[in-house]
Amino acid sequence: MARPATSFVCQNCGGTYGRWQGKCDACGEWNTIAEESSAAAPAAARGRRRKGRLFALEPLTGAAETAPRLPSGIAEFDRVTGGGFVRGSVLLLGGDPGIGKSTLLLQVAGALARKEHLIVFISGEEAVAQIRLRADRLGLAHAPVGLAAETSVEDIVSTLSTGPAPRLVIIDSIQTMWTEAVEAAPGTVTQVRASAQALIRFAKTCGAAVILVGHVTKDGQIAGPRVVEHMVDAVLSFEGEGSHQFRILRGLKNRFGPTDEIGVFEMTGSGLREIANPSELFLSERDLGSPGTAVFAGLEGSRPVLVEMQALVAPTSFGTPRRAVNGWDANRLSMLLAVLEAHCGLNLSGHDVYLNVASGLRIQEPAADLPAAAALLSSLAGVPLPPDAVYFGEISLSGTVRPVTQSGARLKEAERLGFSRAVVPETPGFDAASNPGFAVECFTRLNKFVEKMFGSEKLISRRLHRMDPARARAGSEM
Ligand code: TYD
Ligand code: MG
Repeated sequence: MARPATSFVCQNCGGTYGRWQGKCDACGEWNTIAEESSAAAPAAARGRRRKGRLFALEPLTGAAETAPRLPSGIAEFDRVTGGGFVRGSVLLLGGDPGIGKSTLLLQVAGALARKEHLIVFISGEEAVAQIRLRADRLGLAHAPVGLAAETSVEDIVSTLSTGPAPRLVIIDSIQTMWTEAVEAAPGTVTQVRASAQALIRFAKTCGAAVILVGHVTKDGQIAGPRVVEHMVDAVLSFEGEGSHQFRILRGLKNRFGPTDEIGVFEMTGSGLREIANPSELFLSERDLGSPGTAVFAGLEGSRPVLVEMQALVAPTSFGTPRRAVNGWDANRLSMLLAVLEAHCGLNLSGHDVYLNVASGLRIQEPAADLPAAAALLSSLAGVPLPPDAVYFGEISLSGTVRPVTQSGARLKEAERLGFSRAVVPETPGFDAASNPGFAVECFTRLNKFVEKMFGSEKLISRRLHRMDPARARAGSEM
């Protein structure tokens, strides 16, 4: 009789082994290898094939049921989820430890419970007394949220399956949950996956929306929640810089809504406060009149967001120049420096370049190329840019400034915030004159922009040489 075929599969990377081992050779994770049966179904093995059930095909046209949603009442949160929680859906909220995930979710739970929905908050990290203390601080002490400090998935599912079905279940965090179905220790990939699977099954059967909290660890010591990303309906990430009070909720995946929207919050002494107007806050600490800053008129989802980009170009003191970026893509900066060298005659190989996006926002749009270039050039020349100007535009490898989407919305937001001019790409069909009293300057090539800003190329290169320590030294020896 043939032996049943089993193989040992790494639950993290999918590597397959003939026997069990503690560490996966492929991805280096420990305790991720689990036995899986690869035997064919018994009926098929006996050669008696079951005929498939017949089903009818349906046309694309027809009544489409919109998923019933439960809005949280926190507008910035609903913006990211696409209008609220969908019944039976599972959402993963990831983020660094201490960023404010538990606080945000307790606020969501409190807001919903006050509207007489049955909300359950299960914490595997904090005791009930600790959660109560936090709720008190958030002004939610009297919200009728069902609290529990539990970690066993079987216990949680059994408890929630009896009695009225909750509308929303918050599990804080998935790394602390464990199920008896697998033998691995809590926090391992196998446990996280099996627990998430059980909770997803529970959500689908009882119709409750489930939020799983997941910690992201940089060193990968604890199994990250990445393994459950493809199992859930939506993945949100809660981000922020330790030194800033801003927190940004970003949608990374969403089966029921947009993925490019952001929600902006501020961490205060009494919890997270919604920021409906992020530009005003991002621009509140502007350093007017100093060189190296440019205001980017960006777009986050459907909402225009103005933010300051800061650059510092300084002669390098080591052999290799440093390039450090905060809030923007480092590769994008390298590309921009290469374009400045190839098409505008600016060689920055003797200079350190630092670029920072103010307020801890992370920009992903290519439209930030032009403001980044403007900030770099301003720092290099030591000339401040006009404080009432905004910039946007993508720069291509050939040195052209390319149009970006929604120019009108960006300009309107700039005008609303008191800016009176914009430096933008030439956009076909876009009528600059439609904004009277707002000067719009269009460019098609980056070198024209450089010339317009700082005069001829010669002026800049003279400035570059003056800043180059090697040349300065050579000059003084002469
Ligand atoms: P927390 O929600 O516990 O983070 P996470 O669940 O993501 O690990 O937030 C912890 C931080 O938030 C902590 O450093 C204190 C701060 N905080 C405030 O500043 N104000 C508040 O009202 C609360 C509740 C927390
Ligand atoms: Mg927490």
